[in-house]
Amino acid sequence: MPFCVGLTGGIGSGKSTAAKMFRELGAAVVDTDEISRELTAADGGAMAAIRAQFGPGYVAADGSLDRDRMRRLVFGDAGARKKLEAILHPLIRAAARARVAAASAAYVILVVPLLFETGACLDLANRVLVVDCSEARQIERATRRSGISADEVRAIMASQLARAARIARADDVLDNDAGIEALRRRVGELHAIYLTLARGA
Ligand SMILES: Nc1ncnc2c1ncn2[C@@H]1O[C@H](COP(=O)(O)OP(=O)(O)O)[C@@H](O)[C@H]1O
Ligand SMILES: [Mg+2]
Repeated sequence: MPFCVGLTGGIGSGKSTAAKMFRELGAAVVDTDEISRELTAADGGAMAAIRAQFGPGYVAADGSLDRDRMRRLVFGDAGARKKLEAILHPLIRAAARARVAAASAAYVILVVPLLFETGACLDLANRVLVVDCSEARQIERATRRSGISADEVRAIMASQLARAARIARADDVLDNDAGIEALRRRVGELHAIYLTLARGA
């Protein structure tokens, strides 16, 4: 297995932006959000189990997951959420593991938004990098990016690990309160460290 850095952080913290910078420097990037979307697309690897567990009402006409309906269900029903996670998490972990193993770069950045919350991919990471910025900035960036309201962003933040708890579990912290160029500099520093660690791994 190549050396693997798990990258996590709260909504709007800058995970995707930082991952793209690592990729530009030559790291391989594996994104579990992407894997999750593929698993729940038409004919995706999770759809047979989802149909069997929840019924055809949660499958859209094209065979993909009816995301709105499922979101509404699991929002108010912890048992349903657990059942969905029991289907998705092992599949996401298996796909992530296969992609990390197949990567030919010097090291892999494995982007897992809920790395600590679900724990599903934690054992794949040799090291954990947390992208961090102030909550005000998270709200500002997430609302600007996707047009969701500040209250919706706050609700998502409340469902995620608190900043301090996330940072306490990090090996490295990527401070993303300043601008894009400051982020790029810090990514460059970490890239050099990860190359060195990967050579010794
Ligand atoms: N240092 C930064 N300065 C300005 N804008 C940023 C910075 N980092 C990220 N952004 C912007 O903030 C938004 C959220 O970043 P993104 O990387 O998508 O976050 P995440 O993947 O953690 O949810 C995006 O529109 C991105 O372009
Ligand atoms: Mg993202």
